[in-house]
Amino acid sequence: MNDQLIIFDTTLRDGEQSPGASMTRDEKLRIARQLERMKVNVIEAGFAAASNGDFDAVKAVAEAIRESTVCSLARANENDIRRAGEAIRPAASGRIHTFIATSPIHMEKKLRMTPDQVVEQAVRAIGWAKEYTDDIEFSAEDAGRSEIDFLCRIFEAVIKAGATTINVPDTVGYNVPEQFADTIRSLIERVPGADKVVWSVHCHNDLGLAVANSLAAVRAGARQVECTVNGLGERAGNASLEEIVMAVRTRKDVFLCDTRVDTTQIVPASKLVSGITGFPVQPNKAIVGANAFAHESGIHQDGVLKHRETYEIMRAEDVGWTTNKLVMGKHSGRNAFRSRLQELGVEITSEEQLNHAFARFKELADKKHEIFDEDLQALMSDESSEPKEHFRLLSSSFHSETGETPCARVTLAVGGSEAKAESCGSGPVDAAFKAIEVVANSGTELLLYSVNAITTGTDAQGEVTVRLSKDGRVVNGQGADTDIIVASAKAYLNALNKIQAGTEKMNPQV
Ligand code: KIV
Ligand code: ZN
Repeated sequence: MNDQLIIFDTTLRDGEQSPGASMTRDEKLRIARQLERMKVNVIEAGFAAASNGDFDAVKAVAEAIRESTVCSLARANENDIRRAGEAIRPAASGRIHTFIATSPIHMEKKLRMTPDQVVEQAVRAIGWAKEYTDDIEFSAEDAGRSEIDFLCRIFEAVIKAGATTINVPDTVGYNVPEQFADTIRSLIERVPGADKVVWSVHCHNDLGLAVANSLAAVRAGARQVECTVNGLGERAGNASLEEIVMAVRTRKDVFLCDTRVDTTQIVPASKLVSGITGFPVQPNKAIVGANAFAHESGIHQDGVLKHRETYEIMRAEDVGWTTNKLVMGKHSGRNAFRSRLQELGVEITSEEQLNHAFARFKELADKKHEIFDEDLQALMSDESSEPKEHFRLLSSSFHSETGETPCARVTLAVGGSEAKAESCGSGPVDAAFKAIEVVANSGTELLLYSVNAITTGTDAQGEVTVRLSKDGRVVNGQGADTDIIVASAKAYLNALNKIQAGTEKMNPQV
C-alpha cells in the first residue's frame, strides 16, 4: 500500500466558509504561501465561480504557488467548472474539484434530481474538467449519509470518465470512526478502478469526530485527507490539519504512512490563520494550543525534567513552538531585520516597504526593548495592508479615571486630508471607536472585538481583532501595539479600510 498520505488543505475554501472568516485576496495569498512553506500537497484556494473576488483569489494563488497543487472547487455544472478551469490555469500544478450531492435527502430535496440524473451530471462534469486538467477530484457530497450501492455506481462512472481522486465527504459530521472506516474499506474493495485513483476523505466535526473519522479512514486505505489549519470550517469545522499530520507522524506504526509536511511550520500557520480570521485557538487545543506542551503538575514537571519522554510524545520545537526567543532590539540593523524576516518567511516586495517596516520596527523597539519573532510577524502583518489605507491613525489620546466617563480624541488621515474627533464611551476602547465613527460614519456593525497578548510580560504587544459587518459583508481588522487602546483603534481602522476598499466578499455559500 502507498505510504504517502496526501494533505489537502481547504482552509482557504471550507475554512473560509466559517461565518466571519472570509478573507481578502492578499490574506489568502499570505496563508497560501505559508501552506506552501509547510509543504502541504494541495491547496484548495476557493470556489472560483462563487464571485469575481473568489475567482481573482484562486487565480492569484495559482500564480504565486509553485510547490503545491492549487485547486478550485466547482459544482458539477459547466459554468462552475469553466470558471475553476480558468482560475487554476496559471498554476504549476492545478486541480479541479467538482462535487454533486448523492444522499437521498440531498438529491430529492435539494437538487430535485433522480439518481440517474445525478450520475449523468457527474460524468458530464468530469468531461468539462478534462478540458482544463488531468488532475480531477470528484466529491459525493453528503456521502456520509448516502447509500453504499449508489456511491459505488457513481464512483465507478466518474473514474471511467477520468476522475483521479475520489473524495468521500462526511458533510454533516454524522459518521463514527468504525462505521466510516467500513464505508471506505468497502468502496475500495467494490468500486471497479479503485486501484487507479486516490481515495480521499473530508470530515466535518459536528460530533467532534472529524479527526477520528479521517484517521479511521486512513487505516482503511484512504490516502488523502482534507483538512484545515486549526480545524476551521463550516459549523463545528473540518478535521484539523495539525492533528492529522502529527497523529500519522507520531504513530507511523499504526497508520503505516506519512506526510511530506514540514511540521515546524505548523504553529506559524496556526498563528497566521488565527490572526487573519480573528478565530482564537483554545489554550488546550492539541498541538497548537498555548498549553499543548505546558506541564503544570509537579509530578509531570519532575518527570519531564528527568526524562522528557516520560510525559511528552512530541517535541514542541518539532511543531514550530519557539521559546519566545529574543531576536532583535533597538540596536539591530536593517540587514539583520531583513534577514530575520526572510528566515520567518515574510516576503518583502520592495526597498520602500523594507524602509517603512524598518522605521516601524525602530519605533516598536523604543517602546519594547525585547522584540520576539511574534512581534515581527505582527508588525509585518500590519505592514501588508498599509498601501491601501484610506483611514490611518495619526495620533490619539485617551482619558480614563475612576469615577469619570472615559473619553478619547483621535486624529486621522482620511484620504489626502486630516480629521480630528473626540467622543466618550463606556470604556476607553468604546470611546476610541466612537471617536473614529464621528469621522468615518461607516454604518457598520461591530460583531467581534478580541485582544490577545502576542508574547508574555506586561510590555507585550496586544493584538486586537475587530470584526465589522455592513450590508451582508463581513470583514476582520487587525492591529498590534504595546498600548492596547492604540491597537484597538488600528484594528478598527484596518477593518474600515477593508470595507472602504470593497475587497472583501460575502461568505461564498451564504
Ligand atoms: O463538506 C462537503 O461536503 C464539502 C464538499 C464540497 C467537499 O465541503
Ligand atoms: Zn466541507
